[in-house]
Amino acid sequence: MKLFDVYPLFNVQLERGKGCYVYDKNNTEYLDFYGGHAVISIGHGHEHYIQKLNEQLHRLTFYSNSVQLEIQQQVATKLGKLSGYEDYHLFLINSGAEAVENALKVASFYNNRKKVIAFRGAFHGRTSGAVAVTDNPKIKPPINDDAHVIFLDFNDEASLENAFKSNEICAVIIEPIQGVNGIYEPNATFLQLIQKLCLEHGALFIADEIQCGFGRSGQFFAHQYANVQPDIITMAKGMGNGFPVAGILIHPKIIAQYSMLGTTFGGAPLACAAVMAVLDVIENEHLIDNAINMGNYLKEKCEQLPHVKEIRGKGLMLGVEFDFPIKEIRDKLVYEHHLFVGNSNQPNTMRFLPSLTVTKKEIDQLINALNSLLK
Ligand SMILES: Cc1ncc(COP(=O)(O)O)c(C=O)c1O
Repeated sequence: MKLFDVYPLFNVQLERGKGCYVYDKNNTEYLDFYGGHAVISIGHGHEHYIQKLNEQLHRLTFYSNSVQLEIQQQVATKLGKLSGYEDYHLFLINSGAEAVENALKVASFYNNRKKVIAFRGAFHGRTSGAVAVTDNPKIKPPINDDAHVIFLDFNDEASLENAFKSNEICAVIIEPIQGVNGIYEPNATFLQLIQKLCLEHGALFIADEIQCGFGRSGQFFAHQYANVQPDIITMAKGMGNGFPVAGILIHPKIIAQYSMLGTTFGGAPLACAAVMAVLDVIENEHLIDNAINMGNYLKEKCEQLPHVKEIRGKGLMLGVEFDFPIKEIRDKLVYEHHLFVGNSNQPNTMRFLPSLTVTKKEIDQLINALNSLLK
């Protein structure tokens, strides 16, 4: 049997990883500034992560959400403390799209409405509700009808206010830093207006922190730069450092009811062990500070590169826009310099999403490679 061929793949077979590096079957070392779609948060093969998962593997791998699993509460408590959302409630699932799907369901249960405001360039996932609020017709089959979605531009306050006039809005969903689209941010005042309008009209404010959350931006959540408190926050990617786990944080005004949400695998002990390990390492190794410091260093170095038009983003979620399409240079980074970086919807924009443990030495290695290719 062959694999369903939906991905353009690099001709590289990876076998193992350590820190900011991955290795192929010939033991060739690749510097990883992409983390497999922004997933690697505490580095490949972190000892504490391996130990925590190993211990849990030997204790209890799985049981469903029909019994009490203490490790779920441990995750909720630690996540509440590190993120500053101690009074919110946690619901655990397995992937980013599933987090978005559940966030939209919670909002619709809450106010019994179904119109959602989303934004041009948004990517929220590929399941039915998530792809409907995603702005990409190419990945949206007819069955994922988006007639209930209003797409607006970032920072278009007049259109946002106008959309709320109908009093039918269920939720506004926004990435505090758009990832797949090539690292674009709404203004803080725009996020504040979303919060205000949602409150006034009984709608829910959903922040999709799947790519920009868990410390990557230099705050635990990127929306925290704008001093807003969304009603629902979606998380995935860096949350498990590669273990498939996701979650939503839910404002205490939203009351849980039995059978409102559910999942077989979500919150499994092994997934929770991965999240605990990630939170431990973020805290003990001061990775949010490192995201700010190394992000600033990377930004400064990128500013000195030739052919750079614009640098966008915060912390270790940076988009560098060049004055030419980056496809060829990205391929050369992989095959000639053994270095992974990300692309985006914008052909000229390269995305940097390294592990939050990245050092100056690794940033210098990237910059040297780029310099030699851009000459
Ligand atoms: C902001 C955002 N939301 C949702 C998703 C979907 O996550 P997943 O691929 O885990 O379903 C992604 C994935 O790239 C994302 O970047």
